[in-house]
Amino acid sequence: MAARSEPKALAAIQDIKSKVPNAKVEFIEMDLSSFSSVKKGVDDFLWETKLHVLLNNAGVFCLPYSKTAEGFEIQFGTNHMGHFLLTKLLLPTLISTAKACDPGTVRIVNVSSLAHNRTETITFDDMHDENGSKLANILHAKALSKRVKEHGIITMSLNPGIIHSGLWENMSGITSPMWEIAKYCFTTPEVGAYTNIFCSASPKVTMEDTGDYYVPVGVKGAGKMHKPSVAASDDELAEKLWEWSETEVAKHGY
Ligand SMILES: NC(=O)c1ccc[n+]([C@@H]2O[C@H](COP(=O)([O-])OP(=O)(O)OC[C@H]3O[C@@H](n4cnc5c(N)ncnc54)[C@H](OP(=O)(O)O)[C@@H]3O)[C@@H](O)[C@H]2O)c1
Repeated sequence: MAARSEPKALAAIQDIKSKVPNAKVEFIEMDLSSFSSVKKGVDDFLWETKLHVLLNNAGVFCLPYSKTAEGFEIQFGTNHMGHFLLTKLLLPTLISTAKACDPGTVRIVNVSSLAHNRTETITFDDMHDENGSKLANILHAKALSKRVKEHGIITMSLNPGIIHSGLWENMSGITSPMWEIAKYCFTTPEVGAYTNIFCSASPKVTMEDTGDYYVPVGVKGAGKMHKPSVAASDDELAEKLWEWSETEVAKHGY
């Protein structure tokens, strides 16, 4: 389990082990807002020779403007660029794992959001658009699916629903009474994880679904595919984002 905060990660691991005592979960330090941290985390993981599921779940929302170590706007840099590099560095291991597995067993799952709808395109010369990162999560999964399908790897993106989680903490204007009400309207983190788990592990997801976008389990039927926005369905934009992201990571030696 990769995370940037060791105390939080260890508490989560302890919680998992209290429920599933035999679970083998280890902490790998990784800050997605720094390419060198992503690389170090991958190096720390790579004594393992197999990886069946990569769940690109970490995300930030409504942060004040700042930049990642490599100078990307913090949301785009963390939510898209960090996961783009992470996926790229793990791809050889995912591909070699897939060789020994049934098609569709190995998966890459990007956690996007309904917020992807709020952006009509990605403006490559100004990465300050907070919603562009969630659109990028869908486009990344789409472009990646074309490249890894031949290896029997499923790639998809999803909207987990509206969840009462730490994500909302930075939202300006949210008052304490509003937050108390929200807690009762939003999904719990446990239920919020259902779609992630469905896409990562369900045998109902097959190679035919690769590249698709899923809506929350239980909201519109169990993990049924749903059409994302026009921009998120744009193959040309997905390819442009892929090429642009490759060029950007290459500038930093990856
Ligand atoms: N909550 C919602 O309503 C909602 C709706 C749509 C989509 N989503 C998506 O669901 C995913 C999970 O979010 P959540 O709701 O569970 O929010 P959360 O409780 O804030 O969890 C986000 C996680 O991402 C981690 N993270 C943030 N920046 C990171 C970085 N630079 N490096 C490594 N890890 C980093 C956070 O670590 P720390 O604990 O150290 O901060 C935290 O563990 C996100 O992709 C989010 O966009 C959530």
